[in-house]
Amino acid sequence: MGILATGGIAASFTTDLLEMADAQVIAVGSRRPESAKRFAERFGISRAYGGWAELAADDDIDVIYVATPHSAHREAAGLCLEAGRAVLCEKPFTLNVRQAEELVDLARARGRFLMEAMWTYCDPVVRRMTELVHDGAIGEVRAVHADFGLPGPIDPDHRLRDPALGGGALLDLGVYPVSFAQLLLGEPDEIRAVGQLSPRAWM
Ligand SMILES: NC(=O)c1ccc[n+]([C@@H]2O[C@H](COP(=O)([O-])OP(=O)(O)OC[C@H]3O[C@@H](n4cnc5c(N)ncnc54)[C@H](OP(=O)(O)O)[C@@H]3O)[C@@H](O)[C@H]2O)c1
Repeated sequence: MGILATGGIAASFTTDLLEMADAQVIAVGSRRPESAKRFAERFGISRAYGGWAELAADDDIDVIYVATPHSAHREAAGLCLEAGRAVLCEKPFTLNVRQAEELVDLARARGRFLMEAMWTYCDPVVRRMTELVHDGAIGEVRAVHADFGLPGPIDPDHRLRDPALGGGALLDLGVYPVSFAQLLLGEPDEIRAVGQLSPRAWM
């Protein structure tokens, strides 16, 4: 496996991956050589690339885990697929439907595995609950109430607050309750949404 980006979740993911007997972390790639080197030293990874393209070009890697801010998922995942790698891309998959369709088309054209790292879909409790619900254990599901919050305060410079990095509540946390509801209810026929925009929101 290759790790693309060296931030918070890349470190958590790599820590867990190293616990798995049948997984091997071959390399890490970053926008900056010094970040890649630091991350590689911290986790005992033998190859550190100071660019995404070099990581993507490493033929010893089967799958690349993309852990950039959302705004770079399309570019980073696309580059890896183009190079023939399978991709596990952090949530939210992309910033919009167009970008998501482009990546799916690319994966199909290249015959490569592509998956959003929506961990709730893989959680054994959620999987069992979904099976039970779909088998009718609680009758017809008519409504789902789901929420997800974070304790504040959040640093004003954090990526969560930066529209240029895909910041905001919907793409960072909102994707969890939305995807959870979709798991149980299927595709929505209609979407009505209300929200409170931050002062930095793009209108
Ligand atoms: N599944 C989960 O539970 C979970 C939890 C947290 C976050 N996430 C997702 O994971 C992604 C990263 O979150 P994070 O919390 O790890 O963020 P983070 O700590 O800010 O790290 C993101 C990393 O991406 C690179 N980066 C920063 N700015 C960039 C830019 N403008 N363009 C391209 N790359 C940039 C940097 O690595 P380099 O310096 O190496 O380039 C940075 O360390 C987000 O999409 C988030 O939604 C998922």
